Amino acid sequence: MSKFYSRAEERVSALREVSCDIKAGEFVGLAGPSGSGKSTLLNVLGLTDAPSSGSLSLQGEPVDFSKEAALRELRRTKIGYVFQYFNLVPSLTATENVAISLLLNGCSYRAAAAQARELLAKVGLEARALHLPQQLSGGEMQRVAFCRAIIHKPRLLLADEPTGNLDSHTGDAILDLIAEAALGGAGVIMASHNEQALKRCSRVMRMRDGALRA
Ligand SMILES: Nc1ncnc2c1ncn2[C@@H]1O[C@H](COP(=O)(O)OP(=O)(O)OP(=O)(O)O)[C@@H](O)[C@H]1O
Ligand SMILES: [Mg+2]
Repeated sequence: MSKFYSRAEERVSALREVSCDIKAGEFVGLAGPSGSGKSTLLNVLGLTDAPSSGSLSLQGEPVDFSKEAALRELRRTKIGYVFQYFNLVPSLTATENVAISLLLNGCSYRAAAAQARELLAKVGLEARALHLPQQLSGGEMQRVAFCRAIIHKPRLLLADEPTGNLDSHTGDAILDLIAEAALGGAGVIMASHNEQALKRCSRVMRMRDGALRA
C-alpha cells in the first residue's frame, strides 16, 4: 500500500509500497523515527484511513474502502485501536469510555459497565472509574483508551505507543494484557519508540521514510 497526503502544492509520501502480513496470535512491533509513517500505517490497517493505492485484506476478505457502513461494522466488531492521542469522549466517564465498545455491539449498559470496571481495575484504575477524561492524568487516559480497545476482544489490535506515558511498572501491566490478547488469537501490531517494550514482540518491523526496511 502507498499513502500520500496532498496539501496545496506539496505532497507527502507517508507510506511507500508497504507490504505486510499480520497473523492471528502474532505480537508485531512497529519501530521507526518520528514521522516515518507508523501512525499512518496503523490508521490504514485500522480502517480509519484509506490507502492511496494498493489493497488490504482482513481475515482473507478484501476491504472495500468505499463502503463506509461496512468499514464501520468491521471497526466495531473486529478491530481495537489504542490511539496515540487517546481520543476519549470528553463527556463520558472512564467506565463509559471503555464500555462503549461493548454497547455498540449490543451489550446491555449494566453488563458493559460491569466488564469495563473489571478491566479498569486490572490496569490500576478502580478508583478512577467515574472520572471524566479531563479529571485523569495522561497515563490514566492512556490506560482507559487501552481498555476500550481490548474489551470487545478484537481480532486485530492496533496500539500506537500504548506505553508512551507510563512508568515501567504500569507499562509492563499493559504489555502483559497485549501479550494476553495475542495468546488469545488476536493479531497485534504495536508502534513504539521504546526498545524495552519492543523486546516483548515476536518480531519487529522497522520503518523509515514511509517504507518498511528489509
Ligand atoms: N493529514 C496529514 N497531512 C499531511 N501530512 C501528514 C498528515 N498526517 C501525517 N502526515 C505526515 O506523514 C508523515 C508520517 O506521519 P506519521 O504520523 O505516520 O508518523 P509516525 O511514524 O507515527 O511519527 P511519531 O513517531 O512522531 O508518532 C509525517 O511526515 C507527517 O508529517
Ligand atoms: Mg505516530
